[in-house]
Amino acid sequence: MSQSQHATQHNFTSGNVCFVQSYAKINLTLDVLGKRPDGYHELATLMQTIDLYDTICLSRIDEDRVDMVCNVPELSNENNLVIHAAQAIRQKLGLRQGLAIELHKRIPVAAGLGGGSSNAAAVLQALQQWWQLPLSQDDLWQMAADLGSDVPFFLTGGLALCEGRGEKIVPQVANLPEAWRWLLLVKPAIGVSTATVFRQLTASDYSTGSWSRAVQAALQNQQPLFSSDLHNCLERGVLEQYAEVAQARAAVLHAGASNVRLSGSGPSLFSFFPTLTEAALVQHQLQTQGYEVYLTRALTTDGSPIHFFH
Ligand code: C5P
Repeated sequence: MSQSQHATQHNFTSGNVCFVQSYAKINLTLDVLGKRPDGYHELATLMQTIDLYDTICLSRIDEDRVDMVCNVPELSNENNLVIHAAQAIRQKLGLRQGLAIELHKRIPVAAGLGGGSSNAAAVLQALQQWWQLPLSQDDLWQMAADLGSDVPFFLTGGLALCEGRGEKIVPQVANLPEAWRWLLLVKPAIGVSTATVFRQLTASDYSTGSWSRAVQAALQNQQPLFSSDLHNCLERGVLEQYAEVAQARAAVLHAGASNVRLSGSGPSLFSFFPTLTEAALVQHQLQTQGYEVYLTRALTTDGSPIHFFH
């Protein structure tokens, strides 16, 4: 268990500042069942939070507005989901309390790791707990779903089955086997548009949802799991369209990983390892080739995904 998972939650009603950790995710499986009349795609995906996080600092300000700065300059603007999340709460409850948000990104941007969605969910949860707002879990879920398909998942985190356009959550389906807890993330040096990747799907990429259901059943019944059980319906299109991703995938396997999958709409790739040493050796090899690589761990479901500190 990561150290962060032992952090306790505090009551911040009297404080002026709140810090939140906002975790990334990977998609263990991603079934696309088909295109819906509303333009979205029907999904069944097993999402897993990982120990790679952004830090968000929220401070009260006297003015009736929400300010935001970010260490990634192109994200410092009013389109950032953290602003939308804070404004959604202020509008729903008619709050005039102003807020300054500092967002420190570590999660790669536009990478298939859910960073923006996680940040939005973290702001919703932080404000709810910090200001002790009269919002039900359903209210939070609805606001999260309005902000984006992946946002509701981050209200629970851990390992969850996400259906619909991703917003219908069956939380805490299981924990990964211990042999799968170490993982390497490799981020090819390109950004990928989720909308574009979905648009380029063909009917032959669709599945019935069986990949996600089979892995969920194996985990719940504590049956052995194989890397060949993992599947991402978006992977074929991304590997075909982005040579950088196909090259990175080949490099990961060549460096000694026994498995590699695309996360979400990419371009990040992930590989599981039974030991820290094996993961670190492959990380070193990939880094010497110039790849951006993160050695991290799946988060278990027995701790809150979001933590607060004074
Ligand atoms: O919901 P979100 O804004 O995160 O989705 C980004 C884009 O990805 C959507 O505009 C849509 O084009 C595509 N998408 C989809 N089906 C989903 C989720 C996302 O087609 N289930």
